[in-house]
Amino acid sequence: AVERTLSIIKPDAVAKNVIGQIYSRFEAAGLNIIAARMMHLSRREAEAFYAVHRERPFFKDLVEFMISGPVMVQVLEGENAISKNRELMGATDPRKAEKGTIRADFAASIDANAVHGSDAPETAAIEIACFFPTLAIFSR
Ligand code: CMP
Repeated sequence: AVERTLSIIKPDAVAKNVIGQIYSRFEAAGLNIIAARMMHLSRREAEAFYAVHRERPFFKDLVEFMISGPVMVQVLEGENAISKNRELMGATDPRKAEKGTIRADFAASIDANAVHGSDAPETAAIEIACFFPTLAIFSR
């Protein structure tokens, strides 16, 4: 089925100047970028976005990292977009990510892991609504 997923290019990958290389991978995999914005998240925004992880030991470091610089946020649309994007990203820990994945190629650590992608349709809908009003999404 055609799905939408929320993707974030994290501060490490923005700083490395690889937004275009990551976008090319989305496009080559048949994922359409149907909304996008660059932003520097506030602490409140980062905490709200990652609220499901609030009780996890890595929460504080995760928030600190996500507000350390600008991020690029986009909605990807396509056939099985959620799992397709997760395949492109590779494992959360770049040391465990398969060769040729975004995290294997661009990420340095489990915190500075280059990209975020929604993990299920329900979370995708919530995450997309965090950043984009319906009128800012251009389905094709
Ligand atoms: P992300 O997909 O953005 O979702 C939560 C983030 O927490 C994850 O990517 C990692 O960057 C970060 N993180 C840090 N430590 C862990 C951990 N032990 N397990 C999962 N995520 C972690």
